[in-house]
Amino acid sequence: MEVPKRLPIGPSAPVASRTPSDTDPLPRATRSGRADSTDGPLLTVRGPLSVDLEVPESLKEASRSTAVVALLAGEALTKRFAGVTAVSNISFEIAEGEILGLIGPNGAGKSTLFALLSGMLAPTSGRIVFKGTNVTRWAPHRRCHHGLVQTFQLAQAFPDLTVEQNVRVGALFGAGRRRKGERSVLTVDEVLEMTDLADRRSARSNELTLAGRKRLEVARALAASPQLLLLDEVMAGLNPAELAEIVEIIRRIHARGITLLVTEHVVESLFQLIDRVLVLHHGQLLFTGDVRAASQDPAVVEAYLGRADAAAAASA
Ligand SMILES: Nc1ncnc2c1ncn2[C@@H]1O[C@H](COP(=O)(O)OP(=O)(O)O)[C@@H](O)[C@H]1O
Ligand SMILES: [Mg+2]
Repeated sequence: MEVPKRLPIGPSAPVASRTPSDTDPLPRATRSGRADSTDGPLLTVRGPLSVDLEVPESLKEASRSTAVVALLAGEALTKRFAGVTAVSNISFEIAEGEILGLIGPNGAGKSTLFALLSGMLAPTSGRIVFKGTNVTRWAPHRRCHHGLVQTFQLAQAFPDLTVEQNVRVGALFGAGRRRKGERSVLTVDEVLEMTDLADRRSARSNELTLAGRKRLEVARALAASPQLLLLDEVMAGLNPAELAEIVEIIRRIHARGITLLVTEHVVESLFQLIDRVLVLHHGQLLFTGDVRAASQDPAVVEAYLGRADAAAAASA
């Protein structure tokens, strides 16, 4: 007899690759917010309870190894300013190893959400769980030491320092995390190479072009050796050649095993990088999922992708 069954693998499972460890301090159900898909019984049987199902140990083991935990989870995050709810009850996960996109019209709440994640702003309510730890009330530098690092929409390099000195400042911020046995730490030279700034290392940062300053902003964040890097509009104002370069740089960063959350107005370039996207609108999460599905979602199209260039990018 055919018995309908559901294993916690396949398309319905979260895409994260990190396996939960016994040392994680929080129960998985509260951390992932998706208790039904990741934390339920290994095998769910719909039908008479008397059905006897034998699941081979090997299959159980394979299934367990794909049971996964988000690198970061935002849980019912809300941020109110006087009279404005900039971020309204948003829940989402970022899987280890992915590049997740965040888009939405101006004023949608993207920068506010980033500020909540990096700790520049405290949420009015909700939680942020990073690597299984509730970091909601942690200061930005502590999150940074823990591997959660943000760039800022307005580049803030020290103008009178050289490119290399600016990157060294970024490296100092990550220094608290350089404990024995932690993941590899990027050297300043590696960071300069990865961001195509090696030949400009002795230039003062205020001598750089806009594209150079954007790359320096990425470099300073990268020097802190993030595990999750939050990039806020690093493509704004760049010409097509510069856009292609920054896309390549983000790919390089990703290839080093760094997980990314990227928000951009330049969706054509962003969509070259991501599989999954969050769409914000008026502070609310309008859509989460596959980029192609987003481009066909009527609410997303109406709110944002209706613009001809964006729609073209989504279907490219
Ligand atoms: N510090 C603040 N004080 C008051 N309102 C703010 C503040 N920061 C952002 N907002 C408001 O929150 C909303 C979301 O802004 P923001 O997060 O910057 O959007 P986005 O980055 O998507 O353009 C906007 O209405 C904005 O005016
Ligand atoms: Mg913004």
